[in-house]
Formats: sequence, C-alpha cells, structure tokens
Amino acid sequence: MDLEDKTINTSTQMKQVEANVVNSTAQPALEIIGGKNLTGEVKISGAKNSALAIMAGTLLCDDDCRLSNMPNLVDINMMGQVLTSLGVKIKKSGSVWEFNPRDLKAVKAPYELVSQLRASFFVIGPILTRLGVAHVPLPGGCSIGSRPVELHVRGLQAMGAHVVIEHGVVNASLQGRNQRLQGAKIFLDYPSVGATETIMMAATLAEGETIIENAAKEPEIVDLADFCNSMGAKIVGAGTDTIIIQGVNRLGTTDHDIIPDRIEAATFLAAGAITHSEIIVTSINPEHLISAIAKFEEIGCKVQKEDEFTLRTLPGQLKGSDIETLPYPGFPTDMQAQFMALLTVSEGNSVVTETVFENRLRHVAELQRMGANIKVKGNCAVIAGVPFLTGAPVMATDLRASAALVLAGLAARGTTIVQGLHHLDRGYQDLEAKFQSLGADIKRLPNYQG
Ligand code: UD1
Repeated sequence: MDLEDKTINTSTQMKQVEANVVNSTAQPALEIIGGKNLTGEVKISGAKNSALAIMAGTLLCDDDCRLSNMPNLVDINMMGQVLTSLGVKIKKSGSVWEFNPRDLKAVKAPYELVSQLRASFFVIGPILTRLGVAHVPLPGGCSIGSRPVELHVRGLQAMGAHVVIEHGVVNASLQGRNQRLQGAKIFLDYPSVGATETIMMAATLAEGETIIENAAKEPEIVDLADFCNSMGAKIVGAGTDTIIIQGVNRLGTTDHDIIPDRIEAATFLAAGAITHSEIIVTSINPEHLISAIAKFEEIGCKVQKEDEFTLRTLPGQLKGSDIETLPYPGFPTDMQAQFMALLTVSEGNSVVTETVFENRLRHVAELQRMGANIKVKGNCAVIAGVPFLTGAPVMATDLRASAALVLAGLAARGTTIVQGLHHLDRGYQDLEAKFQSLGADIKRLPNYQG
C-alpha cells in the first residue's frame, strides 16, 4: 500500500467515524406543521394498562388463553418478553395473542426487562400464588416519580408470604410444602392500581376469602377481574372500594377482549378540542371517560355521544379551568399533560394540581418553549392562557408528556419537532398514522439530527 492509498484509507475512515458520530446522535422525531383543521374518525386501540396487567394474569392460568384487542406497543412486546423468559409460549396474530403458560417454571423475572417496564413487577402475585416462590427485581423509579411497591409487598405479606428484599430483588415465598397463600383482609393506605392488581391476582388462587378495602376502582381493575372470572376466579366488587375474592384451586382457559384505551381516546378528543375540530373517536367506552368529558365541557369543547362506542367533539371557545388529578373516578393523572397543553391556549387562568405522582410536571418547560405561560409551584402549575403557541423543537420527558407536546404542535403556528419518541411508542399505537388520517400534517423523521 503506498502513501496515497493510506491517505485515501485514512480519509475514508475519518468519514466513517464522522458518519458514525452523526448516526449516533440521530434520533427519530415527529415533525408537525401546526394549525391544520382535523376531521374524520379514529379507531381507538386496546388499553395498554389493562393489557399489561392481564398479561401478568395469564400466568395464573393452567391452560391456554387468548387475548384480543391487544395494542401493538413497545411496552406490550416487552411484557411478552418477560412472560417468555418465565416459560410462557406466546403466539401472535395481529391484535390476538395466545398464551400457553403450562410450562411456567421460572420463578425469577429478569432484571434487564423489569427495570425497563414497571408493570412487569405485576408478575409477582401470579408467580407466587401458582409456584409458591417468586423473585422479582424492584422496578425502580422512573421519570414521573420514585414509584415504590411497599403496598404490593404488604398485601402479599398479609396473605402469609415471607418477603425479603435483598440486593434490589423482592424474594417472596410460601413457607412449607404445598402451602397456599391465605385469604386476608387488606386495607390499602392508598388506592394503588398496581397493588390492587397484584393482591387481586394473588388472591384468586389463595385459600379462603380476601377482602381488599380502599381498592383502586380504575376500569383496568374491572377488566382484570373480568378476565380472572372468565378463567373461573370468584371476584366481586371490582370497580368499587371493596373487592372480595374467594380463592379457587385452579384457573382454566379463556378468551378475553381487552377494553379500549381511555387515555388514548381522551388524547384524541383533546386533539379535537385544541385544533377546534370536529373529530369522532370510535371503539371506546364513554363510561370510562366521564371525568375527562366533564372537563372538556367545562373548558368549552362539547363532547357528544353518538352511540355506546363513539364520541364526537363539538369545539367552541376554550376557557381556563382548574384540574386536580385523583384516583378513578377522579381526573386521571395520565391525562394531566394533555389537558395542560389544551389549557395553555384557553382564555384566562387555570391551575393544574398533580397529586398522584411527585414529578409529573416536566412537560411544563417544553410547553414554555412553545410560548406557553406557565408557572410551577410545588405540584401546582398556574397557566395563563395565550392566544397561540409557536412551533419549536421540544423533548418528550415521559409517555403522556410526549402526547401533550404532539397536541401542542398540532395547534401551534409553525413547525414543531418532538424528540424522545421512545416514550411515545410505549403507549400510542400508530399515533402519527392516526393523526395523518384525520388530516394532520405530521410525519416521523427516522434520523433527526437535532
Ligand atoms: C398505574 C398505571 C399508570 C397510572 C397510575 C395511576 C399501569 C401499568 N400504569 O400505575 O399509567 O398513571 O396507575 O393511575 O397500569 N404507590 C406507593 N406505594 C405502592 C404503590 C404505589 O406509594 O406500593 C404510589 C405511587 O408512587 C404513586 C401512587 O401510589 O404516587 C399511584 O400509583 P399506582 O396507582 O400504584 O400506579 P401504578 O399501578 O404504578
């Protein structure tokens, strides 16, 4: 090789290095050109949070079971990997998934997966009640708060589980051979969704009666109870403060349809409101959206029920309103960021108080970049409505924050680039395709170099 070859090689290598550096900073992003009027109909997918809990619930079953209306999301696929790692065989065909948990053997959930997906901690109840021992890593905190699991653990302990937390792993076991969890009366200090689900699943195969007081009442709890009952469990009261579970010896095959995603539905209704558009959301359950609908109407966007599965936005002049997030049937924390986007362009002042998670106002700084007038004090955001937002490059900080930024971008003047799409892809199936079908000017840039 002569000198010239070497020079050529070196410069080729340099270019490669530069290309690699550029590629390593390139990230997918959404480009939204705001101000378009939306119109048409959008079909809502199955509920992510229901599907995640029910996937954990398939571990209770002795036989094959089938779930339909499964959303195609990163989180759902990751939960599938958790189940596979435990010995469950899964077959997928579009939105229908089949689970064969007969060979459930592993009692240890892998840290690499649990650390990325908090909901995978929910496998602890089913594995413990079926196999008598479970080792599940603590899920750790996330961008919206510290997210402890002591209510799950205390519930399992009340049912007789021996629990030791060591080196970041929750080790739960039943002492003695063939022993089952024992029914118990459990009062939850807070109506935690996850703790209610963990205890309810564990109690389905426990000996005797379990009563959960101050239970979470979210529609996803009812869906999980319906799923368990369809396998032969005896659960009454799901959706109320008190859930009573009579333990049974085994649970068998079932075919269950996941409920519609109320948060996705409300996000699209918010898109109608913020762009002053008449849009229709279908395949939903309006009963699950009562607090959000009440708030839309208070803000000035009427939401009309077309039939039992369909709602239509009838937008009007938007005006400020106060919101406090609360456990269901209160206003959902998972809709707080999207409504905040709406309130930034609603006339007058609004106060948004986040009571469920301690660190769920990080989207404020990004909305401010788009011209929103928001001041934060503790867990409150005080918003003075502005006539319009302006497009800007923004960074999604969590799942629902990313949806809020998309909504803001749809309404803003000019171009908005939303980065941090790994958050969005966890919880919204085909978001940009759905918005495109409504007429939005939105596209994914696979290699955006911000
Ligand atoms: C679920 C939802 C999430 C939603 C939340 C509240 C899933 C997969 N996720 O999360 O989208 O935002 O409900 O509606 O269903 N807490 C404790 N100790 C515990 C458990 C919870 O202090 O042992 C606290 C949490 O830190 C949080 C609050 O209770 O501040 C609510 O959490 P929880 O209802 O458990 O939410 P998740 O089940 O994690």
